[in-house]
Amino acid sequence: MTEPAVAPVLSVIVPCYNERPNVAPMIAKLHAALAGIAWEAIYVDDDSPDGTAAEVRRIAQTDARVRCLRRVGRRGLASAVIEGALSSSAAFVAVIDGDMQHDETRLPEMLAALQAGDYDLAVASRHVEGGDNTGLANRWRHMLSDGGIALSQIFLPVKLTDPMSGFFMLPRPLFEELAHGLNGQGFKILLDLVLSAPAPLRVREVPATFRERVAGESKLDLLVMIQFGGLLLDKICGGLLPLRFISFGLVGAVGVLVHLSVLAGLRQGTGLSFEIEQTIATVVAMIFNFKLNNSITYRDQRLRGPRLWRGLVLFIAVCGVGAVANIGIANVLYETHTNWTAAGAIGAIIGVVWNYAVSATLVWRAR
Ligand code: GDD
Ligand code: MN
Repeated sequence: MTEPAVAPVLSVIVPCYNERPNVAPMIAKLHAALAGIAWEAIYVDDDSPDGTAAEVRRIAQTDARVRCLRRVGRRGLASAVIEGALSSSAAFVAVIDGDMQHDETRLPEMLAALQAGDYDLAVASRHVEGGDNTGLANRWRHMLSDGGIALSQIFLPVKLTDPMSGFFMLPRPLFEELAHGLNGQGFKILLDLVLSAPAPLRVREVPATFRERVAGESKLDLLVMIQFGGLLLDKICGGLLPLRFISFGLVGAVGVLVHLSVLAGLRQGTGLSFEIEQTIATVVAMIFNFKLNNSITYRDQRLRGPRLWRGLVLFIAVCGVGAVANIGIANVLYETHTNWTAAGAIGAIIGVVWNYAVSATLVWRAR
């Protein structure tokens, strides 16, 4: 199985989370499909509890084509793909799911199309003649996939029948060029790449069948869908506002509603003073915001266990200072300019920017 050390022409990037039973059969399939090509497989595992990384390493002991990049404290398909692709030195990088739902026998055709030099990107499509999408789990997934395709096609600079595909190939230097502009959130790394290219890419679509999943389960959930919306929003705004800031601001807006409802509830007849009721509502809203930011805004570096509690305390402290600054600045502005809407708005904006900037560095410190 092991061959002499030749530099690979093709790196196959395989993002995986809890795919242990799929690793060995998939590598066997890659060997069969890529016979005669100098290839390597780079598994990018996010510390899967089922021991996916250990399984990859076990195989790597006897198969020099296989290696494993294990990330700890991180999650995310797109960011896993980015880091895997950036660890490659091959001429071409392919991205394929680690659950055997993608038809790896398409890889040589994709490589040949790129090697001929007429295309920048080869995409395995379920929606061209000869492609097939029956492997999607249920009707709901079909609706979701079709809806996502229709929505992204509004923004796409090139014709792409399957922008939701997670199976594609491109020259590595091109990937490196685009890497700085990538959003990296969620599942849709192909869409991210296409929307990040300064000039429209020349795309070759190769028909492919999306197979049914045999082992393990899909990781696509509601938050991944929210991230898809965020990706489009980010690209439409031209990356002007960081996506995290938009998410943080939206969570903050929901927090205001929580605050007001709690306050309204307490006013109904607890008999407490307004200051105490206001304090309770503020703390409830802060806890709520912390939870939402931890699971949406900072999903990829979510705090858990003791770090979660430490984070909550820090978040309340940071936002407490933000609130004092907000009120203080608004008061001063009101006294000097007497325009209460402007004073209030400026105070609030300074408060949210403060909360965002300080909590990004103190609470969800990048590790
Ligand atoms: N490292 C890492 N981290 N890998 C992940 C993560 C993560 O957080 N989440 C998912 N993966 C891996 C899975 O283990 C699998 O190998 C691959 O990414 C795809 O994830 P699935 O959970 O199987 O997604 P799906 O089958 O519902 O959707 C996939 O196929 C669609 C059709 O091609 C995705 O690739 C979609 O992007 C794609 O549109
Ligand atoms: Mn899958």
